[in-house]
Amino acid sequence: MSYQNLIVEIENKIALVTLNRPQALNALNKELLGEISSFLDESAGNPEIRVVILTGSGEKSFVAGADIKEFSDFAGTQGEELARKGQEQVFDKMENFPKPIIAAVNGFALGGGLELAMSAHFRIASDNAKLGLPEVTLGLIPGYGGTQRLPKLIGKGRASQMIFTAEMISAERAYEIGLVNEVVAQAELLERAKAIASKIVKNSSVAIAKAIQAINASDAKEGFDIEIKSFGELFDEADFKEGTAAFMEKRKPNFK
Ligand code: CAA
Repeated sequence: MSYQNLIVEIENKIALVTLNRPQALNALNKELLGEISSFLDESAGNPEIRVVILTGSGEKSFVAGADIKEFSDFAGTQGEELARKGQEQVFDKMENFPKPIIAAVNGFALGGGLELAMSAHFRIASDNAKLGLPEVTLGLIPGYGGTQRLPKLIGKGRASQMIFTAEMISAERAYEIGLVNEVVAQAELLERAKAIASKIVKNSSVAIAKAIQAINASDAKEGFDIEIKSFGELFDEADFKEGTAAFMEKRKPNFK
């Protein structure tokens, strides 16, 4: 397993996977998504891996979202394809991965970054983490399952507020509303994730794989399809051009 944007360290049947694009706050570009997808494919049947911990490199960011620079000139069909491919190759694959994936959220988890954390089976966070779905500031909606997974985790009202306001919440608030299971000091985050993973490793992996299937069995597919289609349609709107231009020019968007 050798990657450009992922660091994979395997010890005691636990794979620590570090997303490593610090120059872009670990934003998810095509290459990084492809590598996460390959890692999942390569490790699903690997007996040396029984639990995965996913984290971001550096102390600032888990993942600051999908890579805006990569899709800022997209039109609708490309936007729809981006969401569909991403969901199939990474986000759905993670949620249905037969081994537990723990997201160790070490800083910003925004947009696709929070969506990635929500596709993990559960999340723990460092006390400096900031979580949010800021897509509407770009004239978009979450496209990697955020409109579906966030309401399930924290309830429809809270999820709607987070999506409409685009505000980031603190790790402490994320804990209060059930978005993360635990909050620890940043220096202890990986140690705590490994301690939880070590407990899981001792249990029956066959039973845990079945538990994952059963837990996911009630998820409806239709909502994800509507999200993908709407995400694509928004790429043809003027607000999307203005939102992404504003991000790259480091100014506030002026939506009509
Ligand atoms: N895509 C591409 N590049 C990004 C990025 C992203 N999502 N987030 C940060 N970066 C880049 C910045 O452009 C900057 O690069 P340069 O040094 O080349 O200018 C570098 O990372 C450092 O970022 P900042 O200078 O902005 O750092 P900051 O501390 O001032 O701000 C931040 C941090 C609040 C996280 C800010 O970077 C930010 O708002 N990022 C965008 C967050 C966002 O909107 N995410 C949603 C993306 S859309 C999405 O995810 C769609 C989907 O659901 C599929």
